[in-house]
Amino acid sequence: MSSEFPYFLSPNTIGPVEIRNRAVISAHHTCFVECRTEDMYSHGKLGKRYADYVEARAKGGIGLFILGQYISHPTGLYEVALTDCPGYDETALPGMKMAVEACHKHGAKAFVQFAHAGFMNAGGRDGTQVWSASELSPPPGGIVSAAMAKEMDEDDIADLIEHYRMCARNAKAAGADGVEIHAAHGYLLEQFITPLYNKRTDEYGGSLENRMRLPMQVLAAVREEIGRDKALGIRLSVEEYAQGGVTIQESQEIAKMLEAQGVIDYINVSQGLIPNFVPIVVPCLTFPHAAFASNAGAIKEAVTKLKVIATGRIIDPVEAEQILADGHADFCIMTRAHLAEPEIVKKTTEGRIDEIRGCVGCGNGCTASIGGGIGCTQNPAAGNEGEMDTIIPAAKKKKVMVIGGGLAGLEAAWIAQARGHDVTVYEKSGELGGQALLAPQLPGKR
Ligand SMILES: Cc1cc2nc3c(=O)[nH]c(=O)nc-3n(C[C@H](O)[C@H](O)[C@H](O)COP(=O)(O)O)c2cc1C
Repeated sequence: MSSEFPYFLSPNTIGPVEIRNRAVISAHHTCFVECRTEDMYSHGKLGKRYADYVEARAKGGIGLFILGQYISHPTGLYEVALTDCPGYDETALPGMKMAVEACHKHGAKAFVQFAHAGFMNAGGRDGTQVWSASELSPPPGGIVSAAMAKEMDEDDIADLIEHYRMCARNAKAAGADGVEIHAAHGYLLEQFITPLYNKRTDEYGGSLENRMRLPMQVLAAVREEIGRDKALGIRLSVEEYAQGGVTIQESQEIAKMLEAQGVIDYINVSQGLIPNFVPIVVPCLTFPHAAFASNAGAIKEAVTKLKVIATGRIIDPVEAEQILADGHADFCIMTRAHLAEPEIVKKTTEGRIDEIRGCVGCGNGCTASIGGGIGCTQNPAAGNEGEMDTIIPAAKKKKVMVIGGGLAGLEAAWIAQARGHDVTVYEKSGELGGQALLAPQLPGKR
């Protein structure tokens, strides 16, 4: 282990699960869903393409991959193309198993995230009315169109909890090491937690205890299904950055309540509501790196046993090490960083951190591609691992002259060299990078 990274590279546990290092890939829509029909909005499954994507990062040394999201109830299915993989449905199982096995094969652990977006999806394509805590329509500006929601009644609540149980059974059957319940980013369970959206007057509305009732019931049901030999956690937006919304102080109370419930093993600390998907939920390039680490620190101060995961534009092992050393968190999410560079941990372990391809936070390949299959402007192989991961040695070695040291020229050059050719790049300006050298001169694009 590198002595420069005593925290980042050391193992730690979440509940009963030992994780080989502190690097986590959080759940993220890849939009790699294989649809059941030719209609790319038809709900399908995450299959081989997703498993290949996961495997490249497990092989690169990630400690924990939180798979998904998988949808927890039919009323939570989106109208976003290539996105829906129902987690309660047994057709999800073979693909889920494939992704879990892709992690285990290389020593990574796999949790599965289950989510319901509540009124953050249109739900109208097949006439299904979406659910929420209250009869409201969400503020405009989200990644998905808004729909007027039905206030969930007692039967709806019981049905939702039953579906989370079905999801948990699937995760267990797939061999996952843990389950995460998505209650962040303005999703359904957060619609119950936040006073912004929860206007109920029954036992699910009003006091914090009442607003936390449904998330805690869901967690209890999931724990019953998965038993004590799997990990269980919740993802929260601990600071909504919205007037009248959940603040970090209230979230410290929530963390204490969850710890006292004795059901979960960790809190995955996130921030923001979906209408602020970019920049706050997925902080874009104008944000300082690790901008939200102190939120994780505040949650860590509030709990004694629960593990805490920090998130938000943590892009290299030096930043992660600092967060861990400062005691802000036990694990660090580095999701887009791993889209750009699947081998962060491997390269760190081998003392090659200067070879880590950095995430620039542009969002052009990932967030902007929700609904079409994500990629990465820094890494053309992201999402195409099955086809592009293997460098095939050239049958006949040649001298190769690449004219022009811009992005395309450099990409062609390194691949030709990796295939065994003898490559020389010719660039008239004296500087490599081409048009990419212009981009960092703009404000916020350092
Ligand atoms: C394309 C994309 C899809 C995402 N989908 C989800 C999701 O399904 N569930 C979730 O909890 N977070 C989701 N997120 C947020 C990420 O899990 C993570 O919190 C965010 O990218 C910030 O971490 P990073 O700076 O390490 O990328 C998504 C992010 C991206 C870029």
